[in-house]
Amino acid sequence: MKAVILVGGQGTRLRPLTINTPKAMVPVLNTPFLEHVIRYLRHHNVKEITLALSHLAQPISGYFGDGSQFGVRLNYVLEETSLGTAGAVKNAESYLDETFLVLNGDIITDLDITAMLDSHHQRKTKITIALTPVDDPTSYGLIETDVKDRVTRFLEKPSWSQVTTNMINAGAYIMEPDVIAYIPYQTKFSFEHELFPLFLQNDEPIYAYPSTAYWIDIGTPEKYLRLNKDLLNGKSNQYSLPSNKKVIIGEMCHIHPTAQIAGPAVIGSSCTVGLNVKLKGPIVIGPGCVILDDSVITEAIIWQAVNIGRKAEVKGSIIASNCRLGDDSIVEEAVLGDNVTVASGHKLKPGSKIWPRTTVS
Ligand code: GTP
Repeated sequence: MKAVILVGGQGTRLRPLTINTPKAMVPVLNTPFLEHVIRYLRHHNVKEITLALSHLAQPISGYFGDGSQFGVRLNYVLEETSLGTAGAVKNAESYLDETFLVLNGDIITDLDITAMLDSHHQRKTKITIALTPVDDPTSYGLIETDVKDRVTRFLEKPSWSQVTTNMINAGAYIMEPDVIAYIPYQTKFSFEHELFPLFLQNDEPIYAYPSTAYWIDIGTPEKYLRLNKDLLNGKSNQYSLPSNKKVIIGEMCHIHPTAQIAGPAVIGSSCTVGLNVKLKGPIVIGPGCVILDDSVITEAIIWQAVNIGRKAEVKGSIIASNCRLGDDSIVEEAVLGDNVTVASGHKLKPGSKIWPRTTVS
């Protein structure tokens, strides 16, 4: 089976992290998000993947190249203006000459796509949609089915009074190539709002593949934090830590013997951790970070080359690359874009989102 991964969205809800970094390149356990997804597809024997790009395309193609390093062949298609989820697949038409998988590029899942493909073939359907249960379906697309898993209704972002199921569209579809003929050329067109409802209207069958396997999307900073915690805590089969260790420290790090690290924690290469620093997991620290004496970092994701001064406190926060936090600064439940400076002694308001290159003093 071939695959198309949709990675052309703007990622507005994940800002400020996605101002300069595409959502697909946001690091998860110090590896770009999309690399985890490509490895997952490779594990399911998908060898040719087309990346449908639009916004911030270069960092993605520059990193993944022809895909050979990841054991797959990668094709790239670029939209001049965003074509929506279905329009993006139409744009990739020339690569899709057999049954193919469409995957939203912002989900991490243990969904068994091999079994889903078997189910798709058994039912001889043109479209199979993966479903996953969620606690709060009101911000997702709900999908109702009959007892044989045939889709009967789509309900986008319903209010609680309209909720009839907790099964939502998991953003993974298996399709036959003739589905592409239903999508107009170079026109913004979506699967969720346009193509799938059109199929139902024409009484063309769409089948669901419900699964309770691990599933999360990184639509928001809260979910991005949760994903990192889940992976560190071993909640996914596909993306567990490279070994059973609770604390993984990269090469050439200088960790002061008095520093305390309570895992789960992943620390990238060439980091310096000073005297009496406390790192309390789940925590991920990118390569080249410096954390000076007596600072306390709790449940945080820190990207690369971040400098944290003495006696600083960071809790429940995401700090993008090249940020500087001064001595005695306090950052709680905040999201900092890249190259943000927080002045010494400054306490950020919990819930702050700071745009790149800002100095907060
Ligand atoms: P928000 O702006 O925060 O809603 O994020 P998003 O732009 O990523 O949109 P959404 O979460 O709905 O997108 C789901 C997936 O489809 C993501 O992987 C997006 O990258 C991708 N996607 C959304 N719209 C487009 C598009 O127009 N073109 C392409 N190629 N991909 C898209």
